[in-house]
Amino acid sequence: MDKLVITGGTPLKGEVNISGAKNAAVAIIPATLLIDGVCTIENIPNISDIKISCNILEKLGAKIHWNDKNTITIDSRNITSTKAPLDMTRKFRASYYLIGALLGRCHDVEVGLPGGCNLGPRPIDQHIKGFELLGANVEVSQGKISAKAKKLTGNSIYMDVVSVGATINIMLSAVLAKGTTTIDNAAKEPHVVDVANFLNTMGADIRGAGTDIIKINGVERLHGDATYSVVPDQIEAGTFMLAAVASRGDITIKNCITKHLDCVTAKILEVGAHVEAIDGDTLRVWCNKRPSKAIIKTLPYPGFPTDLQPQIGVVLSTAKGTSIINESIWESRFQYTAELNKMGANITAQGKSAVFEGVDKLTGAPVYSTDLRAGAALIIAGIIADGKTEVYNLEHIDRGYENIEEKFRNLGAHIERVTE
Ligand code: EPZ
Repeated sequence: MDKLVITGGTPLKGEVNISGAKNAAVAIIPATLLIDGVCTIENIPNISDIKISCNILEKLGAKIHWNDKNTITIDSRNITSTKAPLDMTRKFRASYYLIGALLGRCHDVEVGLPGGCNLGPRPIDQHIKGFELLGANVEVSQGKISAKAKKLTGNSIYMDVVSVGATINIMLSAVLAKGTTTIDNAAKEPHVVDVANFLNTMGADIRGAGTDIIKINGVERLHGDATYSVVPDQIEAGTFMLAAVASRGDITIKNCITKHLDCVTAKILEVGAHVEAIDGDTLRVWCNKRPSKAIIKTLPYPGFPTDLQPQIGVVLSTAKGTSIINESIWESRFQYTAELNKMGANITAQGKSAVFEGVDKLTGAPVYSTDLRAGAALIIAGIIADGKTEVYNLEHIDRGYENIEEKFRNLGAHIERVTE
Protein backbone atom coordinates (compact mmCIF):
# COMPACT_ATOMS: atom_id res chain seq x y z
CA MET A 1 0.00 0.00 0.00
CA ASP A 2 1.37 3.42 -0.99
CA LYS A 3 1.03 6.55 1.13
CA LEU A 4 2.17 10.14 0.75
CA VAL A 5 4.34 11.47 3.53
CA ILE A 6 4.26 15.26 3.72
CA THR A 7 6.27 17.53 6.00
CA GLY A 8 4.31 20.75 6.08
CA GLY A 9 4.97 24.41 6.60
CA THR A 10 6.45 25.50 3.26
CA PRO A 11 4.65 28.15 1.18
CA LEU A 12 4.37 26.86 -2.40
CA LYS A 13 6.34 28.90 -4.93
CA GLY A 14 7.12 28.47 -8.62
CA GLU A 15 5.44 27.34 -11.82
CA VAL A 16 3.17 24.40 -12.57
CA ASN A 17 1.97 23.06 -15.93
CA ILE A 18 -1.62 21.89 -16.05
CA SER A 19 -2.43 18.55 -17.72
CA GLY A 20 -5.32 17.74 -20.05
CA ALA A 21 -8.78 17.57 -18.48
CA LYS A 22 -9.64 14.20 -16.94
CA ASN A 23 -13.38 14.67 -17.29
CA ALA A 24 -13.05 15.53 -21.00
CA ALA A 25 -10.56 12.75 -21.76
CA VAL A 26 -12.62 10.03 -20.05
CA ALA A 27 -15.46 10.89 -22.46
CA ILE A 28 -13.33 11.46 -25.58
CA ILE A 29 -11.74 7.99 -25.38
CA PRO A 30 -15.10 6.12 -25.50
CA ALA A 31 -16.26 8.68 -28.11
CA THR A 32 -13.62 7.29 -30.48
CA LEU A 33 -15.82 4.16 -30.72
CA LEU A 34 -18.09 6.26 -32.96
CA ILE A 35 -15.34 7.00 -35.46
CA ASP A 36 -14.98 5.17 -38.74
CA GLY A 37 -11.30 6.07 -39.04
CA VAL A 38 -8.17 6.63 -37.03
CA CYS A 39 -7.71 9.59 -34.69
CA THR A 40 -4.92 10.95 -32.58
CA ILE A 41 -5.56 12.62 -29.24
CA GLU A 42 -2.96 14.87 -27.63
CA ASN A 43 -2.74 16.27 -24.10
CA ILE A 44 -4.28 13.13 -22.58
CA PRO A 45 -3.67 13.10 -18.80
CA ASN A 46 -1.63 10.06 -17.80
CA ILE A 47 -3.88 8.84 -14.97
CA SER A 48 -5.39 5.51 -13.97
CA ASP A 49 -8.96 6.28 -15.20
CA ILE A 50 -7.54 6.78 -18.70
CA LYS A 51 -5.55 3.55 -18.55
CA ILE A 52 -8.67 1.55 -17.60
CA SER A 53 -10.65 3.30 -20.32
CA CYS A 54 -8.05 2.35 -22.94
CA ASN A 55 -7.93 -1.24 -21.67
CA ILE A 56 -11.71 -1.53 -22.07
CA LEU A 57 -11.56 -0.17 -25.62
CA GLU A 58 -8.89 -2.74 -26.49
CA LYS A 59 -11.13 -5.52 -25.14
CA LEU A 60 -13.85 -4.25 -27.51
CA GLY A 61 -11.48 -4.58 -30.46
CA ALA A 62 -10.02 -1.06 -30.78
CA LYS A 63 -6.32 -0.67 -31.50
CA ILE A 64 -4.55 1.84 -29.29
CA HIS A 65 -1.03 3.12 -29.65
CA TRP A 66 0.66 5.41 -27.12
CA ASN A 67 2.85 7.77 -29.19
CA ASP A 68 4.21 9.30 -26.01
CA LYS A 69 2.95 9.48 -22.42
CA ASN A 70 0.26 12.04 -23.30
CA THR A 71 -0.64 11.21 -26.91
CA ILE A 72 -2.59 8.23 -28.21
CA THR A 73 -3.75 7.05 -31.59
CA ILE A 74 -6.98 5.04 -31.60
CA ASP A 75 -8.37 2.93 -34.43
CA SER A 76 -11.90 1.76 -33.60
CA ARG A 77 -12.88 0.71 -37.13
CA ASN A 78 -13.10 -2.98 -36.30
CA ILE A 79 -15.09 -3.30 -33.10
CA THR A 80 -15.53 -6.97 -32.21
CA SER A 81 -17.79 -6.71 -29.14
CA THR A 82 -20.48 -4.45 -27.72
CA LYS A 83 -20.28 -5.97 -24.24
CA ALA A 84 -17.82 -4.14 -22.03
CA PRO A 85 -16.14 -6.35 -19.37
CA LEU A 86 -18.27 -5.80 -16.27
CA ASP A 87 -15.43 -6.00 -13.74
CA MET A 88 -13.61 -3.20 -15.58
CA THR A 89 -16.57 -0.87 -16.17
CA ARG A 90 -17.52 -1.02 -12.49
CA LYS A 91 -14.15 0.50 -11.56
CA PHE A 92 -14.90 4.04 -12.68
CA ARG A 93 -17.74 6.40 -13.26
CA ALA A 94 -17.05 7.44 -16.83
CA SER A 95 -17.64 3.89 -18.07
CA TYR A 96 -21.21 5.12 -18.62
CA TYR A 97 -19.95 6.88 -21.77
CA LEU A 98 -19.50 3.43 -23.34
CA ILE A 99 -23.30 3.18 -23.35
CA GLY A 100 -23.85 6.32 -25.45
CA ALA A 101 -20.94 5.55 -27.77
CA LEU A 102 -21.74 1.87 -28.43
CA LEU A 103 -25.46 2.56 -28.70
CA GLY A 104 -24.72 5.32 -31.23
CA ARG A 105 -22.34 3.17 -33.27
CA CYS A 106 -23.74 -0.39 -32.98
CA HIS A 107 -27.29 0.16 -31.61
CA ASP A 108 -26.50 -2.48 -28.99
CA VAL A 109 -24.56 -2.33 -25.73
CA GLU A 110 -24.14 -4.03 -22.36
CA VAL A 111 -22.09 -2.37 -19.62
CA GLY A 112 -21.75 -2.91 -15.83
CA LEU A 113 -23.32 -0.13 -13.78
CA PRO A 114 -20.66 2.54 -13.30
CA GLY A 115 -18.55 2.86 -10.15
CA GLY A 116 -16.47 5.93 -9.23
CA CYS A 117 -16.13 8.21 -6.21
CA ASN A 118 -18.61 7.62 -3.39
CA LEU A 119 -20.32 11.01 -3.23
CA GLY A 120 -23.78 9.72 -2.34
CA PRO A 121 -26.46 8.50 -4.79
CA ARG A 122 -25.39 8.91 -8.43
CA PRO A 123 -28.48 8.11 -10.52
CA ILE A 124 -28.37 7.82 -14.32
CA ASP A 125 -32.09 8.28 -15.01
CA GLN A 126 -31.45 11.31 -17.26
CA HIS A 127 -29.04 9.31 -19.42
CA ILE A 128 -31.65 6.56 -19.77
CA LYS A 129 -34.42 9.04 -20.52
CA GLY A 130 -32.30 10.46 -23.35
CA PHE A 131 -31.48 7.05 -24.87
CA GLU A 132 -35.16 6.06 -24.74
CA LEU A 133 -36.28 9.28 -26.42
CA LEU A 134 -33.88 8.49 -29.26
CA GLY A 135 -35.61 5.11 -29.69
CA ALA A 136 -33.59 2.68 -27.54
CA ASN A 137 -34.93 0.02 -25.19
CA VAL A 138 -32.96 0.23 -21.98
CA GLU A 139 -32.85 -2.40 -19.25
CA VAL A 140 -31.12 -2.29 -15.90
CA SER A 141 -30.76 -5.61 -14.12
CA GLN A 142 -28.22 -7.66 -12.17
CA GLY A 143 -25.80 -4.75 -11.96
CA LYS A 144 -25.78 -4.26 -15.72
CA ILE A 145 -27.29 -1.81 -18.10
CA SER A 146 -28.14 -2.84 -21.63
CA ALA A 147 -29.57 -0.76 -24.45
CA LYS A 148 -30.71 -1.79 -27.91
CA ALA A 149 -32.33 0.06 -30.81
CA LYS A 150 -33.46 -0.84 -34.33
CA LYS A 151 -32.60 2.70 -35.27
CA LEU A 152 -31.96 5.95 -33.45
CA THR A 153 -33.95 9.04 -34.41
CA GLY A 154 -33.33 12.61 -33.22
CA ASN A 155 -35.72 14.06 -30.63
CA SER A 156 -36.15 16.95 -28.18
CA ILE A 157 -34.77 16.03 -24.76
CA TYR A 158 -35.32 18.17 -21.69
CA MET A 159 -32.95 17.45 -18.81
CA ASP A 160 -34.73 17.53 -15.42
CA VAL A 161 -31.37 18.21 -13.73
CA VAL A 162 -28.25 19.78 -15.18
CA SER A 163 -26.05 16.73 -15.70
CA VAL A 164 -22.57 16.65 -17.22
CA GLY A 165 -22.70 12.90 -17.80
CA ALA A 166 -26.21 12.81 -19.31
CA THR A 167 -25.49 15.78 -21.62
CA ILE A 168 -22.33 14.14 -22.97
CA ASN A 169 -23.90 10.69 -23.19
CA ILE A 170 -26.86 11.98 -25.20
CA MET A 171 -24.48 13.81 -27.56
CA LEU A 172 -22.61 10.53 -28.08
CA SER A 173 -25.76 8.53 -28.80
CA ALA A 174 -27.29 11.22 -31.05
CA VAL A 175 -24.34 12.13 -33.23
CA LEU A 176 -25.02 9.36 -35.79
CA ALA A 177 -28.82 9.27 -35.27
CA LYS A 178 -31.23 10.21 -38.06
CA GLY A 179 -32.38 13.84 -37.83
CA THR A 180 -31.88 16.50 -35.19
CA THR A 181 -31.65 16.11 -31.42
CA THR A 182 -31.92 19.06 -29.04
CA ILE A 183 -30.82 18.89 -25.42
CA ASP A 184 -32.54 21.52 -23.33
CA ASN A 185 -31.14 22.48 -19.90
CA ALA A 186 -27.78 21.02 -20.96
CA ALA A 187 -24.65 21.19 -18.79
CA LYS A 188 -22.19 23.94 -19.84
CA GLU A 189 -18.94 22.67 -18.27
CA PRO A 190 -15.71 23.15 -20.28
CA HIS A 191 -15.44 19.36 -20.65
CA VAL A 192 -18.90 19.21 -22.28
CA VAL A 193 -17.73 21.79 -24.83
CA ASP A 194 -14.48 19.90 -25.34
CA VAL A 195 -16.25 16.63 -26.17
CA ALA A 196 -18.47 18.49 -28.68
CA ASN A 197 -15.38 20.12 -30.23
CA PHE A 198 -13.71 16.70 -30.49
CA LEU A 199 -16.74 15.15 -32.20
CA ASN A 200 -17.07 18.13 -34.58
CA THR A 201 -13.38 17.81 -35.50
CA MET A 202 -14.12 14.18 -36.42
CA GLY A 203 -17.08 15.16 -38.64
CA ALA A 204 -20.06 15.65 -36.31
CA ASP A 205 -22.49 18.59 -36.49
CA ILE A 206 -23.07 19.75 -32.89
CA ARG A 207 -24.02 23.37 -32.17
CA GLY A 208 -24.51 25.34 -28.99
CA ALA A 209 -22.23 23.38 -26.62
CA GLY A 210 -21.42 25.75 -23.74
CA THR A 211 -25.00 27.10 -23.71
CA ASP A 212 -27.98 25.37 -22.19
CA ILE A 213 -29.41 24.28 -25.55
CA ILE A 214 -27.34 21.90 -27.64
CA LYS A 215 -28.45 20.93 -31.13
CA ILE A 216 -27.06 17.79 -32.76
CA ASN A 217 -27.70 17.25 -36.45
CA GLY A 218 -27.08 13.54 -37.07
CA VAL A 219 -24.44 12.72 -39.69
CA GLU A 220 -23.83 9.52 -41.71
CA ARG A 221 -20.36 8.85 -40.35
CA LEU A 222 -17.51 10.34 -38.33
CA HIS A 223 -14.47 10.21 -40.58
CA GLY A 224 -11.65 10.51 -38.07
CA ASP A 225 -8.23 10.96 -39.70
CA ALA A 226 -7.67 14.01 -37.51
CA THR A 227 -5.76 15.09 -34.42
CA TYR A 228 -7.36 16.68 -31.37
CA SER A 229 -5.83 18.19 -28.23
CA VAL A 230 -7.73 17.86 -24.93
CA VAL A 231 -8.58 21.12 -23.12
CA PRO A 232 -6.52 21.94 -19.97
CA ASP A 233 -8.01 20.62 -16.73
CA GLN A 234 -10.08 23.33 -15.02
CA ILE A 235 -10.17 21.38 -11.76
CA GLU A 236 -6.45 20.64 -11.63
CA ALA A 237 -5.72 24.34 -12.28
CA GLY A 238 -8.19 25.33 -9.55
CA THR A 239 -6.56 22.85 -7.16
CA PHE A 240 -3.17 24.56 -7.57
CA MET A 241 -4.74 28.04 -7.32
CA LEU A 242 -6.28 27.08 -3.98
CA ALA A 243 -3.03 25.41 -2.85
CA ALA A 244 -1.27 28.77 -3.46
CA VAL A 245 -3.81 30.54 -1.24
CA ALA A 246 -3.89 27.89 1.50
CA SER A 247 -0.07 27.79 1.77
CA ARG A 248 0.26 31.60 1.48
CA GLY A 249 2.47 31.00 -1.51
CA ASP A 250 2.96 32.36 -5.02
CA ILE A 251 2.28 30.03 -7.96
CA THR A 252 2.24 30.67 -11.69
CA ILE A 253 -0.22 28.28 -13.31
CA LYS A 254 0.63 27.60 -16.94
CA ASN A 255 -1.42 25.95 -19.69
CA CYS A 256 -4.81 26.73 -18.18
CA ILE A 257 -7.80 28.56 -19.67
CA THR A 258 -8.17 31.58 -17.41
CA LYS A 259 -11.82 32.13 -18.39
CA HIS A 260 -12.72 28.66 -17.04
CA LEU A 261 -11.33 29.72 -13.68
CA ASP A 262 -13.34 32.94 -13.18
CA CYS A 263 -15.52 31.21 -10.56
CA VAL A 264 -12.44 30.28 -8.50
CA THR A 265 -10.73 33.63 -9.05
CA ALA A 266 -13.79 35.46 -7.68
CA LYS A 267 -13.65 33.51 -4.39
CA ILE A 268 -9.87 33.83 -4.09
CA LEU A 269 -10.16 37.62 -4.38
CA GLU A 270 -13.00 37.57 -1.85
CA VAL A 271 -10.78 35.92 0.81
CA GLY A 272 -8.13 38.60 0.27
CA ALA A 273 -5.60 36.77 -1.93
CA HIS A 274 -4.48 37.87 -5.40
CA VAL A 275 -4.93 36.59 -8.94
CA GLU A 276 -3.31 38.06 -12.03
CA ALA A 277 -4.05 36.82 -15.54
CA ILE A 278 -0.74 36.99 -17.35
CA ASP A 279 -2.38 36.04 -20.64
CA GLY A 280 -5.24 33.78 -21.74
CA ASP A 281 -3.44 30.65 -20.54
CA THR A 282 -1.34 31.69 -17.55
CA LEU A 283 -2.42 32.84 -14.10
CA ARG A 284 -0.38 33.97 -11.10
CA VAL A 285 -1.99 33.40 -7.69
CA TRP A 286 -0.45 34.62 -4.46
CA CYS A 287 -1.44 35.21 -0.87
CA ASN A 288 0.52 37.06 1.79
CA LYS A 289 -1.87 37.14 4.72
CA ARG A 290 -4.36 34.93 6.49
CA PRO A 291 -7.38 34.46 4.18
CA SER A 292 -10.70 35.82 5.41
CA LYS A 293 -13.98 33.89 5.72
CA ALA A 294 -16.31 33.23 2.78
CA ILE A 295 -19.65 31.72 1.88
CA ILE A 296 -19.54 29.20 -0.95
CA LYS A 297 -22.33 27.42 -2.81
CA THR A 298 -21.38 24.81 -5.37
CA LEU A 299 -23.28 25.01 -8.65
CA PRO A 300 -23.07 23.73 -12.23
CA TYR A 301 -20.70 25.75 -14.47
CA PRO A 302 -20.19 28.71 -14.49
CA GLY A 303 -20.86 28.47 -10.74
CA PHE A 304 -18.29 27.34 -8.18
CA PRO A 305 -17.47 23.68 -9.03
CA THR A 306 -18.25 20.89 -6.59
CA ASP A 307 -14.95 19.31 -7.66
CA LEU A 308 -13.08 22.22 -5.98
CA GLN A 309 -15.21 22.25 -2.84
CA PRO A 310 -12.86 20.15 -0.64
CA GLN A 311 -9.83 22.17 -1.78
CA ILE A 312 -11.44 25.52 -0.86
CA GLY A 313 -12.57 23.84 2.36
CA VAL A 314 -8.88 23.58 3.33
CA VAL A 315 -8.43 27.32 2.69
CA LEU A 316 -11.47 28.13 4.86
CA SER A 317 -10.35 25.75 7.64
CA THR A 318 -7.56 28.21 8.52
CA ALA A 319 -9.30 31.43 7.41
CA LYS A 320 -10.14 34.26 9.80
CA GLY A 321 -13.76 33.90 11.01
CA THR A 322 -16.63 31.53 10.30
CA SER A 323 -17.24 30.30 6.76
CA ILE A 324 -20.08 28.25 5.30
CA ILE A 325 -20.12 25.88 2.34
CA ASN A 326 -23.37 24.66 0.81
CA GLU A 327 -22.89 21.68 -1.49
CA SER A 328 -25.72 21.61 -4.01
CA ILE A 329 -24.58 18.76 -6.30
CA TRP A 330 -23.62 15.71 -4.17
CA GLU A 331 -25.14 14.31 -0.95
CA SER A 332 -21.87 13.14 0.63
CA ARG A 333 -19.09 15.47 -0.30
CA PHE A 334 -18.05 16.48 3.21
CA GLN A 335 -16.39 13.20 4.22
CA TYR A 336 -13.01 14.96 4.04
CA THR A 337 -14.01 17.33 6.86
CA ALA A 338 -13.70 14.50 9.42
CA GLU A 339 -10.12 13.99 8.20
CA LEU A 340 -9.35 17.73 8.43
CA ASN A 341 -10.74 17.74 11.98
CA LYS A 342 -8.13 15.06 12.83
CA MET A 343 -5.59 17.71 11.79
CA GLY A 344 -7.02 20.31 14.18
CA ALA A 345 -9.68 21.92 11.97
CA ASN A 346 -13.01 22.88 13.48
CA ILE A 347 -15.64 21.96 10.91
CA THR A 348 -19.21 20.87 11.54
CA ALA A 349 -20.76 19.18 8.54
CA GLN A 350 -24.39 18.18 8.40
CA GLY A 351 -26.11 17.00 5.25
CA LYS A 352 -25.19 19.30 2.38
CA SER A 353 -23.82 22.17 4.53
CA ALA A 354 -20.69 22.67 6.59
CA VAL A 355 -19.61 25.40 8.98
CA PHE A 356 -15.88 26.15 9.14
CA GLU A 357 -14.64 27.88 12.30
CA GLY A 358 -11.24 29.03 11.08
CA VAL A 359 -8.32 27.83 13.26
CA ASP A 360 -4.81 29.35 13.40
CA LYS A 361 -3.11 26.25 12.04
CA LEU A 362 -3.48 22.59 11.14
CA THR A 363 -1.22 19.91 12.57
CA GLY A 364 0.02 16.79 10.77
CA ALA A 365 -1.84 13.46 11.21
CA PRO A 366 -2.50 10.19 9.34
CA VAL A 367 -5.52 10.84 7.08
CA TYR A 368 -7.52 8.83 4.55
CA SER A 369 -8.57 10.08 1.19
CA THR A 370 -12.26 9.25 0.75
CA ASP A 371 -12.52 10.28 -2.92
CA LEU A 372 -10.46 11.96 -5.61
CA ARG A 373 -10.91 15.64 -4.69
CA ALA A 374 -10.87 14.86 -0.97
CA GLY A 375 -7.44 13.35 -1.61
CA ALA A 376 -6.20 16.54 -3.29
CA ALA A 377 -7.55 18.58 -0.39
CA LEU A 378 -5.74 16.39 2.17
CA ILE A 379 -2.45 16.87 0.30
CA ILE A 380 -2.91 20.65 0.49
CA ALA A 381 -3.79 20.30 4.18
CA GLY A 382 -0.58 18.31 4.75
CA ILE A 383 1.46 20.99 2.96
CA ILE A 384 0.14 23.77 5.24
CA ALA A 385 0.11 21.76 8.49
CA ASP A 386 2.81 21.79 11.16
CA GLY A 387 4.69 18.48 11.26
CA LYS A 388 4.16 15.22 9.38
CA THR A 389 1.00 14.14 7.55
CA GLU A 390 0.49 10.73 5.98
CA VAL A 391 -2.17 10.51 3.27
CA TYR A 392 -3.56 7.02 2.58
CA ASN A 393 -5.88 5.58 -0.11
CA LEU A 394 -3.90 7.06 -2.97
CA GLU A 395 -5.80 5.04 -5.57
CA HIS A 396 -8.46 7.77 -5.49
CA ILE A 397 -5.92 10.51 -6.19
CA ASP A 398 -4.13 8.54 -8.92
CA ARG A 399 -7.43 8.20 -10.78
CA GLY A 400 -7.47 11.88 -11.61
CA TYR A 401 -4.20 13.79 -11.02
CA GLU A 402 -1.12 13.24 -13.17
CA ASN A 403 2.20 13.26 -11.25
CA ILE A 404 0.63 15.11 -8.38
CA GLU A 405 3.44 14.69 -5.89
CA GLU A 406 6.07 15.66 -8.46
CA LYS A 407 4.12 18.82 -9.33
CA PHE A 408 3.84 19.78 -5.65
CA ARG A 409 7.50 18.90 -5.04
CA ASN A 410 8.54 21.23 -7.87
CA LEU A 411 6.68 24.00 -6.01
CA GLY A 412 8.76 23.37 -2.88
CA ALA A 413 6.54 20.93 -0.98
CA HIS A 414 8.24 18.19 1.06
CA ILE A 415 6.24 15.23 -0.19
CA GLU A 416 7.28 11.63 -0.86
CA ARG A 417 5.40 8.52 -1.99
CA VAL A 418 6.30 5.62 0.24
CA THR A 419 5.38 1.97 -0.32
CA GLU A 420 4.65 0.17 2.92
C1 EPZ B 1 -19.40 14.66 -13.46
O1 EPZ B 1 -20.07 13.59 -12.81
C2 EPZ B 1 -17.95 14.56 -13.03
N1 EPZ B 1 -17.44 13.25 -13.42
C3 EPZ B 1 -17.84 14.77 -11.52
O2 EPZ B 1 -16.46 14.82 -11.21
C4 EPZ B 1 -18.49 16.09 -11.12
O3 EPZ B 1 -18.51 16.19 -9.71
C5 EPZ B 1 -19.91 16.18 -11.67
O4 EPZ B 1 -19.92 15.92 -13.09
C6 EPZ B 1 -20.55 17.55 -11.44
O5 EPZ B 1 -19.77 18.54 -12.05
C7 EPZ B 1 -17.08 13.03 -14.68
O6 EPZ B 1 -17.14 13.91 -15.54
C8 EPZ B 1 -16.56 11.68 -15.00
P1 EPZ B 1 -23.72 14.92 -13.06
P2 EPZ B 1 -21.52 13.17 -13.28
O7 EPZ B 1 -24.46 13.96 -13.90
O8 EPZ B 1 -21.62 13.37 -14.75
C9 EPZ B 1 -27.83 14.40 -10.58
C10 EPZ B 1 -14.47 14.32 -10.11
O9 EPZ B 1 -14.08 14.49 -8.93
N2 EPZ B 1 -28.18 13.43 -11.64
O10 EPZ B 1 -23.41 16.27 -13.61
O11 EPZ B 1 -21.77 11.80 -12.75
C11 EPZ B 1 -26.67 13.87 -9.71
O12 EPZ B 1 -27.15 13.05 -8.68
C12 EPZ B 1 -15.87 13.82 -10.37
O13 EPZ B 1 -13.77 14.52 -11.11
C13 EPZ B 1 -29.43 12.87 -11.65
O14 EPZ B 1 -30.27 13.13 -10.79
O15 EPZ B 1 -22.40 14.23 -12.53
C14 EPZ B 1 -26.05 15.16 -9.23
O16 EPZ B 1 -26.77 15.64 -8.13
C15 EPZ B 1 -16.60 13.46 -9.14
N3 EPZ B 1 -29.75 12.01 -12.66
C16 EPZ B 1 -26.27 16.14 -10.40
O17 EPZ B 1 -27.31 15.56 -11.18
C17 EPZ B 1 -28.87 11.70 -13.67
O18 EPZ B 1 -29.23 10.92 -14.55
C18 EPZ B 1 -25.05 16.36 -11.29
O19 EPZ B 1 -24.52 15.10 -11.71
C19 EPZ B 1 -27.60 12.30 -13.65
C20 EPZ B 1 -27.27 13.16 -12.62
